[in-house]
Amino acid sequence: MPPPQLVKAARDVASYLREKARENALFQVVSHLDADGIAAASIISTSLTRLNARFHVRIIQQLSRKSLERIPRRERVFVFTDMGSGQLKLLEESLQEDTVVIDHHPPEEGGGRLIHFNPHLFGLDGGVDVSGAGAAYLVAREIDVKNRDLSPLAIVGALGDRQDKGKQRSLTGLNAEIAREGVEHGILQEVKDLIVFGRETRPIPVALEYTTDPFIPGLSGNHGACLKFLVERVQIPLKAGDRWRTIAELSREEKARLVSELVKYMLGPGNMSADEAQSIIGTVYVLSREREGTPMRDAREYASLLNACGRTGRTGLGLAICMGERKRSLSEAAEAVDEYRVKLADYINWVEGEGMKKRKNLYWFSGVGRIDVRMVGTVASILASSKKYQSKVIVGLAYSNEEDCIKASIRLGKGGENVDLGELVRRVMERMKLETAAGGHELAAGAYIPVGKEEEFLMLLDEELGMGGCGGR
Ligand code: C5P
Ligand code: ZN
Repeated sequence: MPPPQLVKAARDVASYLREKARENALFQVVSHLDADGIAAASIISTSLTRLNARFHVRIIQQLSRKSLERIPRRERVFVFTDMGSGQLKLLEESLQEDTVVIDHHPPEEGGGRLIHFNPHLFGLDGGVDVSGAGAAYLVAREIDVKNRDLSPLAIVGALGDRQDKGKQRSLTGLNAEIAREGVEHGILQEVKDLIVFGRETRPIPVALEYTTDPFIPGLSGNHGACLKFLVERVQIPLKAGDRWRTIAELSREEKARLVSELVKYMLGPGNMSADEAQSIIGTVYVLSREREGTPMRDAREYASLLNACGRTGRTGLGLAICMGERKRSLSEAAEAVDEYRVKLADYINWVEGEGMKKRKNLYWFSGVGRIDVRMVGTVASILASSKKYQSKVIVGLAYSNEEDCIKASIRLGKGGENVDLGELVRRVMERMKLETAAGGHELAAGAYIPVGKEEEFLMLLDEELGMGGCGGR
């Protein structure tokens, strides 16, 4: 069970929401664009639907004065999920009505007038113990015990936020307890299996090709090589009649063969560490009530699907799926996943081909007019994980319509040390006297800067890194 004070706090938020629903209030749910944010919003939305409450949902990339101004606010009860804890003062200043924040990001001081629910306030770590969707679930199950059927969405959110940091890529802390609730209710299964993309849905060579976590050099992203590897090394039937088989269909012996050949490959030609090779086997979370062969069966694939929906502008579709729509939306979701993949590959090729520029202490690219702002962070992250940019700082820029600003995503390549990107960005923002949204941690940071200030921003970043400030070298 979660700590009793946390349960009590969730119960208080739940009573408040129930009370407002009884008064026929109009709710405005506002949530974050990623998989966790969409899952969190849908948990609250389903709970409100079950209370017969009226509500609107808005999914945004960044919570700021500007994005708040765009949302009609009169006589609405605002419920922020997976965002808000870092902007308590802003929310308190901007919103007159009562406002609820259900989040798992580290909270800032202040915001005493808000109804604020965050596991950090009870000594838990929102980075790994529980996600935004998990926090929303804790509230939902206090609104009504029936909402316990939403626990799988909390797991989807946690995996979307990569909180599977336990042994064999398992969830820990409160996430593990929520998973246990799902298992007890017969709606979730935890199995040890190969962690590949599309384990339930894709032909085996495609599943292997699409697996990028872990990234398998020579196989990830290379269809021909995957097919060759399977045919020559693994030698299991890839088709049943005319139809391609999936990983989920393999017999125990076939799977053992595949795993053993894969690990051999990863340790040999793949040049990967034993730890990395082992991470191909791990804890798979199966939503047992979802139809077999659909992307919602495997919680990781479900999270990828929501992420693709969010980052290709199909947030309504992501929400609909989480809220139970299973007809037209499935083919549209497949389109979102494909579009996301194609765009990402195009962006990466472009940056690697001509977009990437070098300064003394950093690499940078401007995706303004070229890269969708919702994907610039992902592009920077993928590049940062490649060997080429080992221990290098990468800055990606794109134009944000939502903020009418340039968005910068900053990442540190593997092996980088002695630099704290969060600290770096805070210093540069201070030197530029900017108060626009910015922040981050050691390995990743983001900032919004006014159009036209890109050059100054890059120059100062480079300078700070060169000075050895923020531990830069
Ligand atoms: O937006 P992006 O993915 O580039 O951000 C990387 C990290 O920087 C986020 O995970 C978040 O921790 C932090 N960030 C922040 N405030 C912002 C933008 C990003 O704290 N306005
Ligand atoms: Zn989150």
